[in-house]
Amino acid sequence: MKLKKFVAVAAGLTMAMSLAACGGGGAGSTDTSSSADTSASSSGGSDSAGGLIGVAMPTQTSSRWIADGNAVKKGLEDLGYTVDLEYANDDIPTQQQQVDQMITKGAKALIIAAIDGTTLTGQLQTAADKGIPIISYDRLIRNSENVDFYVTFDNYKVGVQQATSLLVGLGILNKDGSKGSAKGPFNIELFAGSLDDNNAYFFFNGAMDTLKPYLDDGTLVVKSGQTDIKQVNILRWQQETAQKRMEDLLTSTYNDGSKVQGVLSPYDGLSRGIIQALMNAGYPKTISDGFPIVTGQDAEIESVKLIADDVQFSTIFKDTRLLANEAVKVAQAYLEGKTPEANDTKTYDNGKKVVPSYLLESVIIYKDNIQKELVDSGYWTADEVASGVAKG
Ligand code: BGC
Repeated sequence: MKLKKFVAVAAGLTMAMSLAACGGGGAGSTDTSSSADTSASSSGGSDSAGGLIGVAMPTQTSSRWIADGNAVKKGLEDLGYTVDLEYANDDIPTQQQQVDQMITKGAKALIIAAIDGTTLTGQLQTAADKGIPIISYDRLIRNSENVDFYVTFDNYKVGVQQATSLLVGLGILNKDGSKGSAKGPFNIELFAGSLDDNNAYFFFNGAMDTLKPYLDDGTLVVKSGQTDIKQVNILRWQQETAQKRMEDLLTSTYNDGSKVQGVLSPYDGLSRGIIQALMNAGYPKTISDGFPIVTGQDAEIESVKLIADDVQFSTIFKDTRLLANEAVKVAQAYLEGKTPEANDTKTYDNGKKVVPSYLLESVIIYKDNIQKELVDSGYWTADEVASGVAKG
């Protein structure tokens, strides 16, 4: 049924691809004949060889989504598609409107990283009625039958890695997974992401399952007592909100001379807010001098610099280039009338169906593997790490 819906577009694409090949610019090449329209990012129009693809991203306040958007756009343009890439400023009505417009402009496929995974049901129904395949990007779109595929990382494992790096930072574990010499007890505090983002639960569950034995035996103590995701989540992953919560915790819980020694943070933006609160409260300036162990996620350049400077302890690197590449492959498969390859068909139940998924692997970044994982792989340059600023 689904396949049939895509056959018509597929025929068009196959023709477009053969034309592109005749012009010397096949798939994956730096094709000038079919991807000349680089200004199409927000103009739309389905006049390119492969047609228009809508890419909806949540926000530009985080460098990861900018990298994601650019990589998806480039990958699709290299294949001859026109791309309508939109950022919604973390505003739900804006994202709904953007997706509506993509459909009106004649998008042949939609790649969506939702702000709130439950708010696009109406848009997706319209798209499905027109036979437009929908790819959920990084964050699962919930409560809709009309999600064809999900490309993401192994989000539970990301949470495990975050907690593992906290244990390593505190000396409870060694990097190779063996038991470290530190016994504790250590005071820690927990943060989680935005509850309208399905990933937040996966990260938190992975982390809590990993920390549980140490909480149970008293090696770790959450001094505030706030261990439920309902108490520790940060709406829309906002840095300022995280800073405020950390300040409140310091005032309410650490006003007796005790110190917080570790913070589980699920995203670099939150980590920077948390670090700011700790700095303002007069904690030592570097980890070597006793600054608390703060984790993170996304290998954002500002945080990579903080790691290099011995302030933030770790982050989780999710290579957005690989994710973008996967999304492009999946979109192309649909438009060729094929079924994209999934490597997980069990984990991601969106409330209406289990969405076939492709999960990628993530890597823990510490100060000592920044060079290998981020610089040698070309994700950030040594200059960018030194300055903490993305040069583009
Ligand atoms: C992504 C994370 C990101 C967070 C905040 C999550 O859905 O998976 O990589 O840190 O959103 O943008």
